[in-house]
Amino acid sequence: MKSLNIGMIGYGFMGRAHANAFRKVSNFFALDRQPVLKAVCGRDATKAKEFAAQWGFDSIETDWRKLIERDDIDVIDIAAPNDMHAPIAIAAAKAGKMILCEKPLAMNAAEALKMVAAVEKAQVPNMVWYNYRRVPAVTLAKQLIDEGRLGRIFHYRAKFLQDWTISKDLPQGGAGLWRLDAKVAGSGVTGDLLAHCIDTALWLNGPMDKVTATTETFIKQRQHTLTGKVESVGIDDASLFLARFANGSLATFESTRYARGHKALYTFEINGENASISWDLHDLHRLQFYDYRDEGRVRGWRSIHVTDAEHPYMDKWWVPGLQIGYEHSFVHQAADFIQGLASGTPTAPTFRDGLATDYVTDAVLKSAKTGRWETVKK
Ligand SMILES: NC(=O)c1ccc[n+]([C@@H]2O[C@H](COP(=O)([O-])OP(=O)(O)OC[C@H]3O[C@@H](n4cnc5c(N)ncnc54)[C@H](O)[C@@H]3O)[C@@H](O)[C@H]2O)c1
Repeated sequence: MKSLNIGMIGYGFMGRAHANAFRKVSNFFALDRQPVLKAVCGRDATKAKEFAAQWGFDSIETDWRKLIERDDIDVIDIAAPNDMHAPIAIAAAKAGKMILCEKPLAMNAAEALKMVAAVEKAQVPNMVWYNYRRVPAVTLAKQLIDEGRLGRIFHYRAKFLQDWTISKDLPQGGAGLWRLDAKVAGSGVTGDLLAHCIDTALWLNGPMDKVTATTETFIKQRQHTLTGKVESVGIDDASLFLARFANGSLATFESTRYARGHKALYTFEINGENASISWDLHDLHRLQFYDYRDEGRVRGWRSIHVTDAEHPYMDKWWVPGLQIGYEHSFVHQAADFIQGLASGTPTAPTFRDGLATDYVTDAVLKSAKTGRWETVKK
């Protein structure tokens, strides 16, 4: 089998999720290229060596530019914070590498547009790791919608709730806390958490026309880990918006890191003329489905345990009834990307799809400032 040499940048949360996916994918999926963990790149050589030893990478780099220059790397996989996505991706495209990039694609849509131009000019395969599309229950939701089972869609409702930044003593910036530093993250929960909700929504429910939003920064100043100084906080701690989709449906989106008791509560519900579906990340292997056309005596919400062989991706795993988890969504995405290379089909979400989400997050942040409805760029 021909190898597909991976050069991964960043070895934090997502570095582990990606490395795990590349290690497992060819055990479970029939592929014509074998991913090889060729090099991991991080600024700290000792930590990078430790990570390489634990996860089975052949080598390390401490400068991402060196990684891109290497002839033995086919794919640059960006698992570094948001401010690094554009410079790395644009340089990698110029070097003719395939590129996998973590979400959000960029700090803002202007930057994302440059990344799209770079990969499309270089004609290199590219994909954004919006992994929730490949949770089997979410993929099943997509199938049910595309089959027209819901009928006309009236409502889309999504939220993503966490509670880890409530303490005013939590600093901003640096390792583990870059999400609180606007210069590194671009935005707060809008680009971090709502970006996931928006990507799923655009995929399931089509394009969004306009939005009206409100955001809040509850803790206005925090000590910066890198400077040691108390600095103003530039990110949105909470973000809520209303949206109108091109298909005529109305939507609400909410995200916060101040919902005490919630760690990663991503939920969505879609209400159509005939049927409704809802999904909850805390119970990710289930899809709730209600069909008004069922016989009245037995009509009600069904909780579908998405573990049967006819469910998306599930024939590749265990026997019916045995569920899989979060990490498998990355395995599925890696499998689809490698299979897409063989068939010559771009694997969604591409950078262009990632740009569509950044257009929405830009409009949300703009609306929160202007207090008006803002049109989403297409
Ligand atoms: N798809 C998802 O569900 C999901 C989940 C979490 C994070 N993310 C995204 O993944 C990216 C990384 O997030 P994370 O949670 O893994 O962060 P993290 O802080 O756990 O890890 C970031 C890594 O990048 C490294 N890094 C930072 N600057 C670097 C540089 N200049 N050169 C090389 N390495 C550098 C850090 O040392 C660290 O290893 C972000 O864009 C984030 O939004 C996506």
